[in-house]
Amino acid sequence: MISVENVTMRFGSRVLFEDVTTTFMAGRRYAISGPNGAGKSTFMKILTGEQEPTNGNITRPKRIGILRQDQFAFDQYRVIDTVIMGNATLWNAFVERDALYAKPHDELTDADGMRLGELEGIVGEENGYTAEADAGVLLDGLDIDASLHERKMGELQGGQKVRVLLAQALFGNPSALLLDEPTNNLDLDSVHWLKEYPTIAISSTVCARTPPTSTTRPSSCIPAATTTWCWRKRRFARAWKRKTRSAKRKSRN
Ligand SMILES: Nc1ncnc2c1ncn2[C@@H]1O[C@H](COP(=O)(O)OP(=O)(O)OP(=O)(O)O)[C@@H](O)[C@H]1O
Ligand SMILES: [Mg+2]
Repeated sequence: MISVENVTMRFGSRVLFEDVTTTFMAGRRYAISGPNGAGKSTFMKILTGEQEPTNGNITRPKRIGILRQDQFAFDQYRVIDTVIMGNATLWNAFVERDALYAKPHDELTDADGMRLGELEGIVGEENGYTAEADAGVLLDGLDIDASLHERKMGELQGGQKVRVLLAQALFGNPSALLLDEPTNNLDLDSVHWLKEYPTIAISSTVCARTPPTSTTRPSSCIPAATTTWCWRKRRFARAWKRKTRSAKRKSRN
């Protein structure tokens, strides 16, 4: 469960949202929609803890998988490493451990030796010894051929990149999955594959000029028995109704 209590976000004098209280329940899927710049990504960053709200509290599970909006952020990394980065604790331990092992043997201090012991402990606890194999299974499931696993992300096509980023979000069996505009480049096979994951899924989508009807719903990208619309969608739907009613009145007069 993710619980949001009285959350307000302001950038300078601009209020993005105010006093939001809501709960995202386990096993259900939610969508947040709004026009460009409405604050969807900011709200999702607050949910993950990447951004502190101006006010309010969030209670979240330990592991949250995130599919970020920026699909170029990992271009310089290998595909398999990009997936493993989905577990930040494990990835940071790998990086620090490799840096220590790269030191010339006679420069390793006692403190380095102690730290290496701690790091091996973290790697073990986080299933680091099977990380590459686990990441490979996720990539296979998303139809990323083994020949691509060692390649750099920058060499992949848009659709393949999003599937790798989806594998990253799912790495380590997160209890909640946050997808920021997943419809960009996510194909139907990946969507069906995603259905198998019993997590809370929260997705954001742009709803700029069209009303939030079934055709614009992102539930097609997160198929679910239950798609509950968040506060922003309801507010947007009300505004849309008011706008269409007043347009109809004007056209009658
Ligand atoms: N760190 C920041 N400092 C100042 N303003 C910010 C910051 N981050 C976001 N904003 C502003 O907050 C507003 C909401 O941004 P956000 O990226 O959350 O919108 P969005 O709904 O995800 O938009 P899009 O549909 O384009 O992805 C924008 O006007 C943006 O410029
Ligand atoms: Mg956004």
